[in-house]
Amino acid sequence: MPTQSSSKQLWRDVQVFDGLAQLDEAMNVLVEDGRIVGLWPAREFNEAQAQGAACAGRGGVLTPGLVDCHTHLVYAGNRAGEFEQRLEGASYEEIARAGGGILSSVRATRAASEDELIAASLPRLDALLADGVTTVEMKSGYGLTVESELKMLRVARRLGQLRPVRVLTTLLGAHALPPEYAGRADDYVSLVCDEMIPAAAAEGLADAVDVFCEGIGFSPAQCERIYQAARANGLAIKAHAEQLSNLGGSALAARYGALSADHIEYLDEAGVRALVEAGTVAVLLPGAFHVLRETQLPPIELLRQYGVPMAVASDANPGTSPICMPTLMANLACTLFRLTPREALAGMTAHGARALGLPELGRIAVGAPADLCLWDIQQPAELAYAVQAGRLRQRVFKGEVVYAR
Ligand code: NIG
Ligand code: FE
Repeated sequence: MPTQSSSKQLWRDVQVFDGLAQLDEAMNVLVEDGRIVGLWPAREFNEAQAQGAACAGRGGVLTPGLVDCHTHLVYAGNRAGEFEQRLEGASYEEIARAGGGILSSVRATRAASEDELIAASLPRLDALLADGVTTVEMKSGYGLTVESELKMLRVARRLGQLRPVRVLTTLLGAHALPPEYAGRADDYVSLVCDEMIPAAAAEGLADAVDVFCEGIGFSPAQCERIYQAARANGLAIKAHAEQLSNLGGSALAARYGALSADHIEYLDEAGVRALVEAGTVAVLLPGAFHVLRETQLPPIELLRQYGVPMAVASDANPGTSPICMPTLMANLACTLFRLTPREALAGMTAHGARALGLPELGRIAVGAPADLCLWDIQQPAELAYAVQAGRLRQRVFKGEVVYAR
């Protein structure tokens, strides 16, 4: 890990997307001790503030470091075979019910050692970093035993030590019913509540708890038991909800003060209202929508009307979104969901950070942590408009330039 530099660094004459909107004119941005300490129009001479600062960059577009608030980055194996099966007509649900899908990644992940999982996951993490990510959430959910779920979370934590990036971890023990619990879903939920969640909390391995609330996942009643255990263990709450049908999982999560409800293609107006009342972020995952060739669109216009913050994330996973390119997600959020480029970028910065309970991140503002990306483009909207690797000129993590081209 790079050490924080105490010297002042100045970015001059940059177009700024501040996490919510583009600022009107070119700006200078001053960073010291890992934080943004100055932000003023480039045309204004500000000698006092810039005194002693080294010029770290000039021109281009400066955004907050991207926040990928929903990934399943840690896993072994891949599911290219299922991709082909789906192209031949099998549905995601059919494959899951036949013991493939998530369970095929479970078999590979259980068999892998921690080091093997690191080796498999690191290239995916590096792809995210090369596309501007400075904060990433990683879920477990391909272990489905106490030990293998903890193994996945440990790998996620280790990945955060191997690279200059902030990793948040989420226990997704209730991702699928493991075969050894077939016909005994409530017993498996008890294992999640009574053993997995307390163990992950005791070892400091999880920041949040997630569930897959779905016909092929867990019922709302089962998810509620898991939320009670999460709450009792002081962990934040998230949900995979309303992805393939509407079971009211988002409203349930909101009742438990969830940070976010994710996917939400089938969310209805009552669900939208529940989110806004609880301050729960709606996380849009256009990669899974795209890969599964879904047709049910999330209720974007209702979310706008009610003012629900919309985050956008990669959902990087071996089944429904084998894609490690957050700027492509911004593009898909626009082309598939009709977000504006501004909304898509806010979804990957300020609102993504909120979905992780870290509202101070994902912003360019005086006092905010200096996680930044400098891009070789003219205006922020280009990040959503064009799909093109290699536009990142610098990635700044905690005030330190950790990547420069
Ligand atoms: O976010 N919906 C459930 N979980 C993942 C997919 C996991 C998988 O297919 O491996 C998702 O889409
Ligand atoms: Fe997911």
